[in-house]
Amino acid sequence: MSQGIVTAAYIVAAVLFILSLAGLSQQESARRGCYMGIAGMAIALIATVFSQDAHGLGWVIIAMVIGGAVGLQQAKKVEMTQMPELIAMLHSFVGLAAVLVGFNSYIDPHDVDSDMFTIHLIEVFLGVFIGAVTFSGSLVAWGKLNGKIASSPLQLPHRHLLNLAALVLSFLLMLWFVGVGGSSFALIVMTLIALAFGYHLVASIGGADMPVVISMLNSYSGWAAAAAGFMLDNDLLIVTGALVGSSGAILSYIMCQAMNRKFLAVIGGGFGAAPVVSGDNTPAGEVQETKPEQVAETLKNAHSVIITPGYGMAVAHAQNAVASITAKLRQQGVNVRFGIHPVAGRLPGHMNVLLAEAKVPYDVVLEMDEINDDFSDTDVVLVIGANDTVNPAAVTDPGSPIAGMPVLHVWEAKNVIVFKRSMQSGYAGVDNPLFYEENVKMCFGDAKATLDEVDKNI
Ligand code: TAP
Repeated sequence: MSQGIVTAAYIVAAVLFILSLAGLSQQESARRGCYMGIAGMAIALIATVFSQDAHGLGWVIIAMVIGGAVGLQQAKKVEMTQMPELIAMLHSFVGLAAVLVGFNSYIDPHDVDSDMFTIHLIEVFLGVFIGAVTFSGSLVAWGKLNGKIASSPLQLPHRHLLNLAALVLSFLLMLWFVGVGGSSFALIVMTLIALAFGYHLVASIGGADMPVVISMLNSYSGWAAAAAGFMLDNDLLIVTGALVGSSGAILSYIMCQAMNRKFLAVIGGGFGAAPVVSGDNTPAGEVQETKPEQVAETLKNAHSVIITPGYGMAVAHAQNAVASITAKLRQQGVNVRFGIHPVAGRLPGHMNVLLAEAKVPYDVVLEMDEINDDFSDTDVVLVIGANDTVNPAAVTDPGSPIAGMPVLHVWEAKNVIVFKRSMQSGYAGVDNPLFYEENVKMCFGDAKATLDEVDKNI
């Protein structure tokens, strides 16, 4: 394939990626956005593999078949609740790829002009640094999300100084690396420091701030890909990496605003975060219990209902039962709406995806800011597998690890019914005083089983 055709294909792919991002910003156009992204990636792959620069086509095709088969098999069996872990794992691959590309272009800097050699060395050094931070940070995020690593923050003494020392040392190593025209020792030492830095950065961030970490690693993986693009002299990789890097950074910023956290404080490894005083999960008071049949009666007598779903709805696969209850109540003239917290679940938009899948109409699904003032005029709130996102301690207890994080004010409603299996805390590991309030009743059990019962009795 001639260079002209490859360049034209890259431009088409870049435009498709931009249209894909635009499509993904709205639920209605998200599917179209996905198709555009797939088309862009297919064009980019074909143009790259068949370009004049590509060598060893047989090896590339073997690698693509093996990688594609593993990816397809993983994507088929992954549960919706495991998506964040999968994304974290994929981010780690991008980081690892940037490290390998960096070492490869250091060992074999083919056709780099002598007057561009210094720039090439800086590209290699930065590419490997960003890649290594992304790789180890994403592995820690993967571990924290699937429970293999505790979600509580690692609080090493002088941890901010340690981070600063890692950055300063890496910078000095870069000066040396560039000054001596390349040094394997400097590159390897910096890689080890960057791996430890990435590990420490993410391990220091507590469970409640994980949404920011995920979008931040998304951003890092984009910059790692852009760095690889510079090293490989591939314009499309630079553009694509910059798109992912900047959209991830914007998403991290939006997440921070939604959670009332300072962006730099979170990405600086939980700087300024209060130590977690994780509850030991022993009940801090008496709770009132209710049964699904009683919940159905309460709902039938209500005029207005707000449903606030959380991670537990996803785990239980309870969205279809929720949708059926919603449809029946709406038929009976009850005003049913949903209140979605920006970090409910384990990935941005998690609840919206599940509710859309269960065919809940978009117009009754409202964001937290749109519905938070309406709880005081509401007869019944159903809290379905949500915990941190409805925790009043965020508002009332300045010492709480989630203090200052905006939450859904469910406790202001006349009646609140909480669906969960036990008195266990949520992802942030913080006790929830909501459960002991006078207007709150607990409906214990797996959310799908209890909601199916409620559904039958309406
Ligand atoms: P959480 O606070 O994590 O609480 C989920 C609750 O669901 C748990 O208390 C659990 O209680 C219950 N549950 C689990 N399985 C259940 C089942 N089968 N049936 C019924 N209940 C079940 O959820 P949330 O309110 O959605 O808050 C999200 C948390 O995750 C926040 O802390 C957020 O910062 C963090 N986070 C979010 C993201 C994004 S981007 N959304 C990413 C990473 C982390 P039982 O065990 O007692 O049943």
